[in-house]
Amino acid sequence: MTTLSIEADADLRPRNTLALPARAAQLATIRSADEARALAADPRWRGVPRFVLGGGSNLVLCGDFTGLVLQAALPGRALAGEDADAWYISAGAGENWHDFVQWTLAAGYPGLENLSLIPGMVGAAPIQNIGAYGLEVAERFAFLDALDLDCGELRRFDAAACRFGYRDSVFKQEGWHLSGHYLITAVTFRLPKKWAPLTRYADVAGELAAAGIAQPRAQDVAAAVTAIRRRKLPDPAQIPNAGSFFQNPVVSSGQAAQLMAAHPALPTYAQPDGRVKLAAGWLIEQAGWKGRDLGPVGMYEKQALILVNRGGATGADVRLLAQAVQADVQARFGVRLEPEPIYFPA
Ligand code: EPU
Repeated sequence: MTTLSIEADADLRPRNTLALPARAAQLATIRSADEARALAADPRWRGVPRFVLGGGSNLVLCGDFTGLVLQAALPGRALAGEDADAWYISAGAGENWHDFVQWTLAAGYPGLENLSLIPGMVGAAPIQNIGAYGLEVAERFAFLDALDLDCGELRRFDAAACRFGYRDSVFKQEGWHLSGHYLITAVTFRLPKKWAPLTRYADVAGELAAAGIAQPRAQDVAAAVTAIRRRKLPDPAQIPNAGSFFQNPVVSSGQAAQLMAAHPALPTYAQPDGRVKLAAGWLIEQAGWKGRDLGPVGMYEKQALILVNRGGATGADVRLLAQAVQADVQARFGVRLEPEPIYFPA
């Protein structure tokens, strides 16, 4: 029987990248699937509300939590198998995402380089289908293993079962993430052996061209993405933030045509289903919020899509600013912005 380490009255401020204050009545650090299974079987925790915490990089903590927080800390990374076309690389849910990406590149398995420097942990990557610079994690995903904390059984989800969408998956759709229904223990990625650099994203192409690199290796793409991110996005260790605070809104082709006629500079991205994705950062900047604060929070001066904590903010401050930005963008453009991070407790 494993002994779980459980902390009472745990401080969550150092465990969320917006550095919002909150406490959890109990916090269990889960280092293995066996520990999670032991917790699921323990009658003391039956009926106690749960929340699974990863790197806390996509989270707005709105107050104290009277239940049990499970801190996913499952380690491990390895080549799990290969076939003629691909390598299959597994990682524990508690591995730091960026360190894992760097490890795959150093080990000679390219394919995740466009997702360099994204904050958070491996286990959280599929929940919101992280994406950047022309790649989403769904495109490199084989399967994940998750423990059903209600019955203690391990279940395998392939890509279809994950129902991936833009910053979306079944874990968000079904509310399993908020209810602590599943604990993701490990993720296995499929990295094709036939590799080609993904440089269709203008920023990446420009960065490589500026460095004089015509035929980039995966490490060159990783370095370019890292440089772009360092320039545009604040380091949470210095300026607390949760990455993009809003999703890029997807509107009908009719609404997009009207908006483009009125605002020819509006960046738009045609979607496979005919709808059109708009750049939320541009909308927010035009609405006057780039570099503007409300109380102790503000929209970042170098990227209007990033909400930053200037110091001492609470979840309520974040909510107020988010609502003010939403209201102004709605009034100016008739477009509703949806937050990307999860508010907890809701
Ligand atoms: N823009 C502005 N003003 C701003 C910010 C952006 O006009 O203040 C314009 C840019 O000039 C550009 C367009 O908006 O034409 C898009 O901007 P950018 O390329 O910086 O990307 P984004 O749409 O703002 C998305 C992701 C990021 C990801 C980048 C790069 C979402 C919500 N965000 O941002 O993901 O890193 O593309 O691929 O999809 C995250 O999800 O946390 C995240 C950082």
